[in-house]
Parts: sequence; C-alpha cells; structure tokens
Amino acid sequence: MKSGQFPNLPHDPLDGLRAAPWPLPCEQLPKRAFAYQAPAGMNPASPPESPSAASLGQISALTLAHYAARAEEFEAGTRDHDVGQNIDALLRHISGTPPFTILDLGCGPGRDLKAFTARGHTAIGLDGTAAFVERARNTSGCTVLQQDFLALDLPAAGFDGIYANASLFHVPGAELPRVLGELRQALRPQGVLFCSNPHGSNEEGWNRGRYGAYHDPQRWQEILSAAGFALLELYYRPAGLPREQQPWLATVWRRGA
Ligand SMILES: C[S@@+](CC[C@H](N)C(=O)[O-])C[C@H]1O[C@@H](n2cnc3c(N)ncnc32)[C@H](O)[C@@H]1O
Repeated sequence: MKSGQFPNLPHDPLDGLRAAPWPLPCEQLPKRAFAYQAPAGMNPASPPESPSAASLGQISALTLAHYAARAEEFEAGTRDHDVGQNIDALLRHISGTPPFTILDLGCGPGRDLKAFTARGHTAIGLDGTAAFVERARNTSGCTVLQQDFLALDLPAAGFDGIYANASLFHVPGAELPRVLGELRQALRPQGVLFCSNPHGSNEEGWNRGRYGAYHDPQRWQEILSAAGFALLELYYRPAGLPREQQPWLATVWRRGA
C-alpha cells in the first residue's frame, strides 16, 4: 500500500469536507444515530493493515478538519444529549473516595466536562479539534488538552477514570492496541475506562469525511482484553429499543494490574 492510500476507501476522503451535510450525531434519537454507522459498501478490514505514518497524519488531520468545519453545528446538535447513563456507568465502578479525576477523551465542546464537574469531580478534557478545545475550556472552566489520539502525552497513573464517549472509533484498528496501552498507563491501578462506539461488522475506512473503525462486539472485547482491561459492564444504546435500533455499544473496563 502506498503512503497516503487506504485499504477500504468507499469514496474520496475529502467528499465529506466538500459536500456532505453534517449528519446530526445523536446518541438519543435512533433515526439520526445511524448516521454514525458504517455506510453500505464499506468493507470489513481483516486484519487491519498498518497505515504509514503519513497516512495516520492524514487520518487525524482530515477527521479533525471535518469536525472543525462543523463545530457550531455539532455543538448545537449535541449539547442536549442525555448521556447520563454513560457517566453513571463509569462513576459507579471507580473505587475509592470521591472526588475523582476523570479524563474526557474526545470531549468535543465540553458537554460532559460540565456534567462531571457538576457532580463534584475534577474533569480534564482532551480533543484534537482546536475549536472544540476552546469552547470546552470557555464553557466548562476545566483544563482541556489539545492532543491527537494517535500522539497522546498523558501522565502515568494520572486518572481514576477515562471517559471515551463516541471517540475511540476514530482510531484506526491497527493503532488501537497502542492507544489503549497508553490509556491503560494513564489510569491508576484499578482505574476504569468507559467507551461508547458505533458497532458494526469490523468495517474500517472513511465515512462522510471522518475516518472510522466499526468493530463488532466480540472483536471489541478481544482487543480490550488483549490490551489489559477486564470487562465490567456492557450495554447497547439507546436503551429500551430493539437491538437493530441500538447502534451504540457501551463498555466499561477495569485496568488490570
Ligand atoms: C463524535 S465526537 C464526540 C464528542 C463528545 N465526546 C460527545 O460525546 O459529544 C468525536 C470527537 O473526537 C475528536 N477526535 C476525532 N479524532 C481525533 C483525533 N485523532 N485526535 C483527537 N481528537 C479526535 C473530535 O474532535 C470530536 O470532538
């Protein structure tokens, strides 16, 4: 594979930047939530190929540019999402005496930083989209790191919990074990990782201008287990709907020793 090319491109990665209307991302409303699923025609990546460093740079840059171009729209469309179920799922598994120090990985404009802060915890955001970092800082008052998921620089054992809501699916499958290893190191021993991602059939590639990996639930669990996490809880969202209308897989993990 030449540098700059990807194995499963259904279309030009710039399509989404040029033309596609922003599909309102919504964990709550099932019809819109399907905007996050793998599009028809996206091939399963098995096994995931390792993109070159240049390709990885392009994956991050184009995905972040896609969010940046729609920052206001994204914030307006997601500010009222009720993800309290996910926040509760993380917090109830953290042992020790609160307040806890929580990293919101891929915090976007900061909705959930405010929710953690309102519950008395110390929330720290991380996102690669500069416009989101600025909004998140301004609206939450929290420390917000501007970092790429593919080049993290986090303190060892610095967090009681890591909350990755709708964010880790942007990490290419070939890089996921390394990134998860870094998140594991950033958790204190027995710390807890929460993830919610659109699940699929292991498709991977460009989806309307954003790079995404859509793991099936079994493979997702295998990857996390291999990275040194023990499963605590698994559920599908939105709650109360038939499985075919639940595109989100939420999982909660304890850092192994
Ligand atoms: C679907 S949004 C989720 C935002 C927020 N967690 C929420 O639940 O609304 C994905 C977030 O991941 C961020 N992101 C995507 N790829 C990234 C990368 N390579 N490095 C850092 N942030 C990235 C985007 O900027 C965006 O804020």
